[in-house]
Formats: sequence, structure tokens, C-alpha cells
Amino acid sequence: MRVVVAGGAGFLGSHLCDALLERGDRVVCVDNFLTGSPANVGHLADNDDFELIDADVCGELRIDGPVDAVMNLASPASPKDYYALPLETLDVGSTGTRRLLELARSLDATFFMASTSEVYGDPVEHPQTEEYWGHVNPIGERSMYDEAKRFSEALTFTYHRTFDLPIRVVRIFNTYGPRMQPDDGRVVSNFITQALRGEPLTIYGDGSQTRSFCYVDDEIRGFLALLDSDETGPINIGNPGEFTMLELADLVNELTSNTAGLVHRGLPSDDPQQRQPDITRARNLLGWSPHVDLRTGLERTIPYIASVLRD
Ligand SMILES: NC(=O)c1ccc[n+]([C@@H]2O[C@H](COP(=O)([O-])OP(=O)(O)OC[C@H]3O[C@@H](n4cnc5c(N)ncnc54)[C@H](O)[C@@H]3O)[C@@H](O)[C@H]2O)c1
Repeated sequence: MRVVVAGGAGFLGSHLCDALLERGDRVVCVDNFLTGSPANVGHLADNDDFELIDADVCGELRIDGPVDAVMNLASPASPKDYYALPLETLDVGSTGTRRLLELARSLDATFFMASTSEVYGDPVEHPQTEEYWGHVNPIGERSMYDEAKRFSEALTFTYHRTFDLPIRVVRIFNTYGPRMQPDDGRVVSNFITQALRGEPLTIYGDGSQTRSFCYVDDEIRGFLALLDSDETGPINIGNPGEFTMLELADLVNELTSNTAGLVHRGLPSDDPQQRQPDITRARNLLGWSPHVDLRTGLERTIPYIASVLRD
């Protein structure tokens, strides 16, 4: 296959490029490096099956030659990034997605949309199945991200219904691993960075809120299983193992031998209390489930963040 990966120089996108190339596909990575970095795909520079295009997907985009799939991962994704880039986030979720849908349509390619568990907002159902419509504040502080993704999903399904475009929609739950930004404001990178600096880990609220964390290799394996299937989705891909922030903090402190403990701060508004994927669909329809447990995933991630902090 020849696959366009929009946002391919980001955390997940770069792992996706690696996985596609590893299985023999050709990759055209399109990125404007808004939140990603050429360094994430620097190791692919000499690979003849890899092409890097510096472009904003909200603008004109021409890809020469046949393409089998357009995978849209382009969007600021960490809270720190979308708070700093609210209009860019709305633009890429609307205009950017529309442009990439048009590209897929013009090339007769399958369109893959990287959506998010944020479409469930602050959910009142646990765990979240794909049937759940969500509980999102449309004018809340993080609405630029949540609503952009909900709009992207709506656009994607509209193209499917209107033009019969083959689509795949994945709802990604918190994913972590090497190449995540140490200072991206997400809890795993925050905790590891603070622990490696010997600082106390910041717990928002009382730390009883839970999250599920999926190791990047599992997440990417889920993307490819969905891409290769005949399912439109949406399909949740995430690790249902649920941990409180206090449990995560203790594990990170243990694995980094950090003795500085914890510090408590006020809970940000619109911070979900609990989020956990129901992955029954992924198990039944794709034969997918996560393999990497949190301890193992953290053991693989900590050395990466340590190396970035050293540089
Ligand atoms: N990492 C997670 O836990 C997670 C969870 C849910 C959803 N997602 C989704 O997965 C995708 C990738 O997330 P990530 O964690 O790798 O984030 P990231 O910020 O590392 O990667 C996003 C990439 O998109 C690029 N980009 C942004 N706007 C662009 C534009 N207009 N034109 C071209 N490129 C653009 C950025 O430069 C970056 O390389 C995002 O769409 C995100 O919403 C990620």
C-alpha cells in the first residue's frame, strides 16, 4: 500500500510511519511541524519508501501517484498544545479534515480518522462504549479540541454517506511511549519528567480520578487492524486497565527511585473524573487487545524521556 500519514511527524504519527514501513508499505508523511518535529522521523530520511512533505493540511495539498489510504492524525493533541493553539486546532479539525477527505476521495483512497476519547467529554457512563454519545461542554475550556474532533467525525461520516467513501474512525484513548513530548502537559510525561528531576509529582484534585493508558505499540497495532478491516468504526482503541492518578504517581516514583513524593493542586475545569474504554468492539471485530501492561510500558518510556532531558 501507499499511505499518506497527515501529522506523521508527531508522537503517534511517527510510530505509525515506522509500523507501515516495517510491514512493507510506502509512506508519504505530511506535517507542518506545528506540534511535531522532523526529528521524530529523522531516522527514516534515507528510506526510499518514505517521503516527507512540509505542508499545512488546511491548505492546498497535491499528492502525485496512487494512494491507497489517507490517515489523518494531524491536530494538536496534548492539552498544553490545544490550549496554546485553539484556532489552529479548530481549523485542522474542520478545514484540515475536509481537505484530507477531498484528497482521499480524489485518489480513491480509504480515509482513516484519528478521533479521540475526548468526544465522550466528561462521561456519565463507564466504561465508554462507542454507542455512548458523550457529555461535552460545547463552550468549555477544552471545547476547541473535543468539538473539533466531533466535527471531524461528523464530516467523515457525511463523506461516507454522501460519496460512499471508505472510512475508518478510531477513538484513541490516552496513549504514551517514546517520542511523546516530556513537557506536553499529559499526566504520564508530566510525572516522569518531574520524577526524573527529583521533584514532587503534581496531583490535581485528590488524585482519585482515573485514566487508562495504552502503550504506543499496542495503539498502532490497533490502527493497522482497523485500517486492514472492513469496519467503518468508530472503534475505541485503548487499554481498559484503569489507574488512579495516585497509583500512577506511586508507580512512576518507584520506577525512577524518586523520593520527593507528591504535591496537590486544584482540579482544572472540565477535567474528566474517569475515562475508560470499552474495547468489546475492537476485540470482536478486529481481534485486537492491548498486550503491554503499565509497568512494562513505563519502563520503556522512562529512558526515552531521560534521554531528551539530558540533551
Ligand atoms: N496521544 C494520545 O494519547 C491521543 C489521544 C487521543 C487522540 N489522539 C489523536 O492522535 C493524533 C496524533 O496525536 P499525537 O499525540 O501524536 O500528537 P502530536 O502533536 O505529537 O502529533 C500531531 C501532528 O500533527 C501535526 N499537525 C498539526 N496541525 C497540522 C496541520 N494543520 N497540518 C499538518 N500537520 C499538522 C503536528 O505538527 C504533529 O506532528 C491527533 O489527531 C490526536 O488528536 C492522540
